[in-house]
Amino acid sequence: MITLTDEERKFLIDLANEARRRAYAPYSNYPVGAALRTKSGRIFTGVNVENAAYSNTMCAERVAIFKAVSEGEREFDVMAVVTPSGGTPCGGCRQVMAEFGLDMVVLIGHPDGRLIDETDVAKLLPGAFTAGDLSS
Ligand code: THU
Repeated sequence: MITLTDEERKFLIDLANEARRRAYAPYSNYPVGAALRTKSGRIFTGVNVENAAYSNTMCAERVAIFKAVSEGEREFDVMAVVTPSGGTPCGGCRQVMAEFGLDMVVLIGHPDGRLIDETDVAKLLPGAFTAGDLSS
């Protein structure tokens, strides 16, 4: 697992927090922002995108990962997530994170810019189902 500097943590949390302004969350009024850094140093942000047919909503974390993968990136070292309440990634997002590596660092930030928690995917999703489970 990588070690981050305080400057890196602040930079990524600030980016995720800024991204929240672009969230499309008219139903929940719970804007979430994510900032994902690839091992190659590129950064992809994501926001939650809701829908009048609620179940079609997509979380900020998955938007960031899908943007990155669709641009050719599959190796990630850290993702910052900021929610209005300091909430942590949902189960679906944890599973999508696990697909691309259990050692990605996850920073949980507060809208005021504070770092609430620094964890990783392995801790967020113990016993993750991964590609290895498919081989008999
Ligand atoms: N949401 C996220 O974007 N990420 C999470 O980790 C938790 C939930 C979104 C989905 C929905 O738009 C809103 O927050 C309320 O659940």
